[in-house]
Amino acid sequence: MTAASDAIIEVRNLRAGYGETVILQGISFSVNRGEIFAILGGSGSGKSTLLKHIIGLYPPRAGEVRIEGKNLVALEGEERTELLLRFGVMYQNGALFGSMTVRENVRVPLDVFTDLPLAVRNAVAEAKLAQVGLSNAMEKMPSELSGGMRKRAAIARAMALDPVIVFLDEPSAGLDPVSSADLDNLIKRLAKDFSITFVMVTHELASIFGIADRVILLDGRSKSIIAEGDPRALRDTSTIPLVQRFFRREGESPEGAATP
Ligand SMILES: Nc1ncnc2c1ncn2[C@@H]1O[C@H](COP(=O)(O)OP(=O)(O)OP(=O)(O)O)[C@@H](O)[C@H]1O
Ligand SMILES: [Mg+2]
Repeated sequence: MTAASDAIIEVRNLRAGYGETVILQGISFSVNRGEIFAILGGSGSGKSTLLKHIIGLYPPRAGEVRIEGKNLVALEGEERTELLLRFGVMYQNGALFGSMTVRENVRVPLDVFTDLPLAVRNAVAEAKLAQVGLSNAMEKMPSELSGGMRKRAAIARAMALDPVIVFLDEPSAGLDPVSSADLDNLIKRLAKDFSITFVMVTHELASIFGIADRVILLDGRSKSIIAEGDPRALRDTSTIPLVQRFFRREGESPEGAATP
């Protein structure tokens, strides 16, 4: 058991869905401060839905989500903004703005949320880009970047306001194995150097075993968590067939628990 004081995110008995449709139910777990936490599951199992409910884009049907002890959907005004500023998000398919340079993209959160002078906003954006190894690409347009560079720029943008938590929805989707490994190393380094808690959705076994401290595995059929813990321990010791199939697939996509 984790002491409550270690938990930076607490999800308690969450029920989530759209319209009449329930996608997730009875979801409870905590994310500890400073860890790299991965949300796993097959396509359509509700990973992005869970992420969107954690960050308050949608209110829970039941249960609650607490970030640093605070219930985002119950907050208003300045209190809400303050909590929103504690985390950065990179959405699935979350693109950079194509008509802006890389530096302007990273500056957007600063433009929107701060009154800092332009020179300072630019300097902060440049510092964030340096942290992800993109100092040479600041003046480029997104279309001039490789897929891996775009992901790194998006992470720099998610970090623009010095968040304590960064949410990443499938950061390595569409990347080749080498770029994907580079991105994993970057995430690991940022977590360590800046004490950032990362919550990421991923399918990549290499990422899961390479950088995730703990994971939950969602199952679309039961709409719930079917495994939680250290991914290697789950791979090696779980006796649940769906869990075994997810962790022991080899470049394959077993039905039920993995993606096409
Ligand atoms: N805005 C929405 N309105 C209605 N239904 C939605 C909405 N977003 C997602 N869904 C449905 O919720 C279910 C879970 O979708 P979700 O995007 O959370 O899955 P996922 O695990 O992230 O899948 P993937 O691995 O393909 O990204 C799906 O059946 C999807 O059709
Ligand atoms: Mg998704």
